[in-house]
Amino acid sequence: MRRILITGGAGFIGSHVVRLFVNKYPQHDIYNLDKLTYAGNLANLRDVENLPNYHFLKADIVDGEHIMELFKKYQFDSVIHLAAESHVDRSIANPMEFIMTNIVGTVNLLNAARHYWQNDFEGKRFYHISTDEVYGSLGDTGMFTETTPYDPHSPYSASKASSDHLVRAYHDTFNLPVVISNCSNNYGPNQFPEKLIPLFINNIRHKKPLPVYGKGENVRDWLYVVDHARAIDVIFHKGHDGETYNIGGHNEWKNIDLIKLMCAVMDEKLGNAAGTSESLITYVKDRAGHDLRYAIDSSKLQRELGWVPSLQFEEGIRLTVDWYLNNQDWLDEVTSGTYQQYYDRMYKNR
Ligand code: NAD
Ligand code: TYD
Repeated sequence: MRRILITGGAGFIGSHVVRLFVNKYPQHDIYNLDKLTYAGNLANLRDVENLPNYHFLKADIVDGEHIMELFKKYQFDSVIHLAAESHVDRSIANPMEFIMTNIVGTVNLLNAARHYWQNDFEGKRFYHISTDEVYGSLGDTGMFTETTPYDPHSPYSASKASSDHLVRAYHDTFNLPVVISNCSNNYGPNQFPEKLIPLFINNIRHKKPLPVYGKGENVRDWLYVVDHARAIDVIFHKGHDGETYNIGGHNEWKNIDLIKLMCAVMDEKLGNAAGTSESLITYVKDRAGHDLRYAIDSSKLQRELGWVPSLQFEEGIRLTVDWYLNNQDWLDEVTSGTYQQYYDRMYKNR
């Protein structure tokens, strides 16, 4: 029996990880620690919130003293750290929150783990969840491997790169038993509709313009969120201390091609004439420092730990569109109020 702390469990990826762990490991206590920012939503976890091995702790990882108290009280023996500010556009508008949560918050967790585990690392694990964006931008060819030098360009990716370095430093300097994974772009149910796929689904629903940055030629490598959660389960249990694992779907899409696919699926599901949603596409000012292409080589994870993605992309997109159309109350709830102000501000001058 373990006491596993999952940070950011009320967010998009975190909620899928919490669900998987609570259901799959009834013998383990799962503690979901989350500040409940705009991106955290306990409604994501309604189906597991009453299970006896699920516990929710409302806390801010930037508050180091509180984090220490929680480690003392609950004696976590492992951490799966997902809590972060995660949206590139917000990091351009307000870098400081990213520095605080992604860097200082991570160090607070490392310090607490080090403090409470220092006499006994046996059975302990600090698993840091990161992104492929730390590797920077690719040209037309090549892929990111675990040894690609870091070259982040946005405040978001720079803050995640910094946290990755600190996690490695705590391993190398203090022997903290850490493991890190860097994953490509996720999509699927419960993603906050500021990221490309849910934003465009929501805009099509409201017949609003679809703001394509630049020429729509940037390339991203998309992975279904449940496959990421499965990879996290495998790496948490079988990954080797001090190692990094890249996670990705070998599924590269140029933004504009992905958007056209989504438009076609939405037209079909909504019973629209072909081309209805595509007519909403609007080219807008490019994102500052916009990385051209991400593509991840996940062969180490496949070879060493046996993980492979389970879903084809077209199937994943259909499942995703179905989920958002069947959960329009969720979308309406998270897009009301302060989100509306964010949207108006973010897209006003594009
Ligand atoms: P998200 O923005 O949907 O969720 C983040 C969660 O962290 C929210 O529940 C939020 O309330 C919580 N949080 C934020 N600041 C906090 C703080 N100071 N204290 C405690 N909780 C706080 O993010 P996501 O897309 O689910 O990403 C989760 C992790 O995975 C992040 O570390 C991100 O860098 C990484 N990642 C994301 C992607 C992606 O495509 N979304 C890809 C690779 C890696
Ligand atoms: P996003 O979902 O923000 O993920 P990331 O920037 O972390 O990869 O964006 C995915 C791609 O879609 C990225 O190239 C930026 C682009 N994009 C748009 O063209 N329009 C939008 O409104 C958004 C949010 C993103």
